[in-house]
Amino acid sequence: MNNPINLDTLLIADEARSLQTQDDDVINATIGSIYDDQNQFHAFETVTQSIQALPHMYPYTKPEGLLHIGDLWWEHLSKGSLSLPKKHILTLGGTGALYLLYRSVATSKDIVINAVPTWNNNYQMLEHQGITYDTFYMFNKEIQYDLNTLKEKIDHALLHHEKVFVLVNDPSHNPSGYTMKKEEWIDLFRLIQSYQLHDRLFLINDMAYVDYADKNYDYFALINDHLKDSTMFLTFSGSKAFSLYGARVGMLVTVSNHVELLKEIDTKTRYIARSTYSLPSSFGFQVIEHLLKHQYELYMKELDETKALLKSRVTVLRSILEDKKIPYLPYEHGFFITVKTNQPLTVFQTLKEHKIFTIPVEFGIRFAVSSLTNKDINKLKEKLKLELFM
Ligand SMILES: Cc1ncc(COP(=O)(O)O)c(C=O)c1O
Repeated sequence: MNNPINLDTLLIADEARSLQTQDDDVINATIGSIYDDQNQFHAFETVTQSIQALPHMYPYTKPEGLLHIGDLWWEHLSKGSLSLPKKHILTLGGTGALYLLYRSVATSKDIVINAVPTWNNNYQMLEHQGITYDTFYMFNKEIQYDLNTLKEKIDHALLHHEKVFVLVNDPSHNPSGYTMKKEEWIDLFRLIQSYQLHDRLFLINDMAYVDYADKNYDYFALINDHLKDSTMFLTFSGSKAFSLYGARVGMLVTVSNHVELLKEIDTKTRYIARSTYSLPSSFGFQVIEHLLKHQYELYMKELDETKALLKSRVTVLRSILEDKKIPYLPYEHGFFITVKTNQPLTVFQTLKEHKIFTIPVEFGIRFAVSSLTNKDINKLKEKLKLELFM
């Protein structure tokens, strides 16, 4: 499937950043990483200290990377709530985790089904690997995750493809900020299990923004209790979790009661890693090791402060949108809010003419609250109008 919004997010963000340095009126809502209110890249103090405390030698590791650090990271994320059999491999970012997953388990006879709007890179990644990609609009009339349409998509896909992967990005979805309710997840598990096709139908959850969600329920306990016969792939990003974007740290975790399948996937992922990039960088993972072992409480405090910063920006932006009756997708957590429009590319250009830089997505315009300073949000209060999105 072709990307209806075939623009590169990183290039748009680059243009906005360079114009911003020349013109104070430019509002930059493009960047999917956190900038503070002085417009400076947000680094965690504890991460910086962990970098300074690192060893100065970097011998080769293995294709799977330093797995004991993966264990530490997993313990930090799941807090012992998930005890099902699993295998993990350290990767080059969350992007690398998804790449490795597709390269290892999917072929050109397979399909990935994903709700839109979505993270733009999914189109490119699947096209590059020759895997069919099908999408559906994420929300039904009740503004819940549209499981009925997903079911229709799965039914159709099973007639034409060998393996079917349902890709979800939860919690703190990019670009809407939606977090699925516990009941929606239970219904999703039930739907997948109703097919009784554990070797053809799989779930993937891209959990790149999990650290930025307030836990209304335990995501990992939920998988533990409801996965049953299914196999699920979880991908994580150290870019977002630790503000270590350039260190390229990520992890792919496969959870399944089918132990033979787990072993097979583990062997394949190591083989693909070895024969493409050889092994992940150990630098970023050693930062994570030091951080989780020696700076844990302080890091968690910093993370909470960062979440509070995002929340305060979101609160103001939402009240502006609501005052002006500008409709936006249901937001719960995370870096982005998406305003609804049927003309994303035209609206994107119009906003640019008003010096407001955003990212167009399917049926919407994404505002990255992660990079919007308070000053910028106040400027938006003057500039935004419902007419701009029509
Ligand atoms: C939804 C989503 N998944 C995965 C990633 C991957 O991030 P990285 O490769 O930097 O870990 C991103 C980054 O923007 C994202 O937005």
